[in-house]
Amino acid sequence: MTAGEIPADLCGAYMRNGPNPVLEPKGLYHWFDGDGMVHAVYFREGRASYIRRWVRTRALRDELENGRVTLSGIMGPFDLPRDGSRATNPDYCKDTSNTTLTWHNGRVLSGWYNAGHNYALDPLTLDTVADETFGGALDATFNAHAKCDPRTGELINYDYGDFKSYLTYYVIGADGKLKHKTRVELAGPRLPHDTTITPNYTILHDFPLYHDVDVLRNTGHRVVEFHRDVPTRFGVIPRYGTQEQIKWFEFEPGYVLHMVNAWEEGDWITMDGCFQPDPTIRRDPSEGALGSMLAYLRYRGHLRRWRMNVRTGEKREQQLDDLNVEFCLPDTQLYGVKTRYSYHQRIPTDVQTLVFDGLVKYDHESGSHEVYEYPKGWYGNEAPFAKSTRGGAEDRGYVVTLATHGKDYKSEAWIFDAQRIGKGPIARVALPGRVPIGFHAAWIPGQMLWPDKASTA
Ligand SMILES: [Fe+2]
Repeated sequence: MTAGEIPADLCGAYMRNGPNPVLEPKGLYHWFDGDGMVHAVYFREGRASYIRRWVRTRALRDELENGRVTLSGIMGPFDLPRDGSRATNPDYCKDTSNTTLTWHNGRVLSGWYNAGHNYALDPLTLDTVADETFGGALDATFNAHAKCDPRTGELINYDYGDFKSYLTYYVIGADGKLKHKTRVELAGPRLPHDTTITPNYTILHDFPLYHDVDVLRNTGHRVVEFHRDVPTRFGVIPRYGTQEQIKWFEFEPGYVLHMVNAWEEGDWITMDGCFQPDPTIRRDPSEGALGSMLAYLRYRGHLRRWRMNVRTGEKREQQLDDLNVEFCLPDTQLYGVKTRYSYHQRIPTDVQTLVFDGLVKYDHESGSHEVYEYPKGWYGNEAPFAKSTRGGAEDRGYVVTLATHGKDYKSEAWIFDAQRIGKGPIARVALPGRVPIGFHAAWIPGQMLWPDKASTA
């Protein structure tokens, strides 16, 4: 059932990944550990259609065959090789592929934030069709927040892990073949999460929030600490550059999960993102068994701008606003070029976990924002921008999210007019089942995305 009217110029698919455990976990369980499930709502000619599927990961296939979970989740304890040999995250930590979805070369790629395997999904059935290694050429893992350059079709990404060289940067061509790869030396294991691209550069992250690999080997746990005397570093690397060509810029210590966008203006790169000035992981003993998990779910951050001059090395940074926001997206068809608008989720500061209680649209030119507070009891998900098929101004189109009620778990797809966020959804499409709160969403434009067998809402 639909309340309101699905716009005729909304055509494509909203897809969202998130954790849904299938079997009893091993070790300490964290909400981040659930098996990846993809929910997709397809829109065309004023109609909507919904399907969902688990990502058939190597771990899940193995578990279903053996009837039990064999790898620990992100809280460990990990069973690392004691001989000092290199191991990748998915070798000792369950890779759930539950984090992101990236549209590339006609397929949806499902990724894991801890840099794992890469799974290709059929966009119409969501069936897992390949453990994607790009023809076997890529001997590195796949970080969740790969960026697809909408102008060239290239996929820009990196692998990171607990062992040297800590980061490998690479570019996949529009044809799905490995085009460039280079190792990047860092001082130790780091926890980068996102990246940004411009037509000529990629910006790599090195934050002072990390763990000691010796402690990891000795205890089996990553003990993550914020080193407040160590600067944030952004590494600007030419798209096909090498380690020697990286220009590093130092900024205020902190952490960033997600960037909005980056672009070039002459020798300057401008980059906007959601900055956490104090990402210390605080465990509250009074929270008992849930304490460790909740410690990783508290978020305090704001929208910030960094500017870097690739010729002179000059730099600037500036807080743009003070709302507690994250899960930020521009029109992703404009990744790498100057954008005026972005769409964020607001996170309440009086709740000790990660939920979204409002949708925020930022105007980066005027510095203003517009907020829509989700009705009491409802929580939203990441809300990508869907361009009107009629074209028009940068914000001419829609913002789509999935909303779930916290008590009865009723779930709906909500469509907002991107130019009038504050007025609330212009259409609410009831979904046939519960959609738990999850991670990242993507808008995949185009009428080729219309499944034949899905249920029509
Ligand atoms: Fe993320």
